[in-house]
Amino acid sequence: MEDKKILFSAIQPSGILTIGNYLGALRNFKKLQDDYNGVYAIADLHTLTVKQDPAILRKNTYELAALYLACGIDPEKSILFAQSHVSAHSELAWVLNTICYPGELSRMTQFKDKSKKHEDNINMGLMDYPVLMAADILLYQTELVPIGADQKQHLELARDLAIRFNNRFGETFKIPEGYIGKSAARVMSLAEPDRKMSKSDANLNAFISMDDDPATVLRKFKRAVTDSDDKIIYSPEKPGISNLLSIYCAFTDKTFDQAEQEFAGKGYGDFKLAVGQVVTDKIEPIRQEKNRLLNDKAYLDEVLKSGAERAERLAYRTLSKVYKKVGLVARKRG
Ligand code: TRP
Repeated sequence: MEDKKILFSAIQPSGILTIGNYLGALRNFKKLQDDYNGVYAIADLHTLTVKQDPAILRKNTYELAALYLACGIDPEKSILFAQSHVSAHSELAWVLNTICYPGELSRMTQFKDKSKKHEDNINMGLMDYPVLMAADILLYQTELVPIGADQKQHLELARDLAIRFNNRFGETFKIPEGYIGKSAARVMSLAEPDRKMSKSDANLNAFISMDDDPATVLRKFKRAVTDSDDKIIYSPEKPGISNLLSIYCAFTDKTFDQAEQEFAGKGYGDFKLAVGQVVTDKIEPIRQEKNRLLNDKAYLDEVLKSGAERAERLAYRTLSKVYKKVGLVARKRG
């Protein structure tokens, strides 16, 4: 790999991804891969922390691989792989577990939220999730981690563990920096604009999935909740219109001022149609390319195989250093 800084990111193969995931993560990857050595994982081991149907998990893993590629990840420039294919992730997580305290994990916001949501399955993996995530990041001597605001605490823990390990055993890990892109500005629900857009919303009209076809996208925006007057302006008193304006601006790289001027005097109907159009212009080619790739499993398998081989070489370099530092005897080979 060329001598550029390492960027690491991962997404769980847990089904639908929304335009929120696209704006917050996927669309930045393509831009970033020229400036960084990108390492992109499909975080399948993380997904096991909540109940999965095995056949669906397998399908979702291919779906996510295809989506990454369709969004412009170039498997020659970047490393794209499945986390479970590189066992160093689990192995480093074990060592990091020995320097992490239960209190650090039990107070994580996401652990508390997920414990409430999955009351019948509060397993050790759910609690240990951030330690595996720290291993993901630290294995690659990562310098930059693009994350959504909800992962900030987890990244903080990764940094804490890296610093703790380095202090105890000597310089081993680079300390990663988080990067919260400005378009990670929260995309809100189309039905209840004071809530975050979520793929697990029971109301399918509340979110735009990356798998929605143009007719569906336009229909969902048409139905989006707006506000009582008919002005298209960004204001805290107008959460519905403000959310649509944010989406419009994020997809067009326009400012709120520009968008407000563009729609001055126009009605909500025209505005919603325009928002739907700019969204579908961007996501429809991705959906088509993703579906094309999904018909070529052999190609996807090949990409994941070569990705895992390249990831493994980097990961084992760090893992052997770690094993040595903590006093494990190196296995003799040959
Ligand atoms: N926890 C992340 C999420 O759900 C996914 C993830 C796993 C990740 N490992 C990571 C993100 C390492 C960044 C770095 O969004």
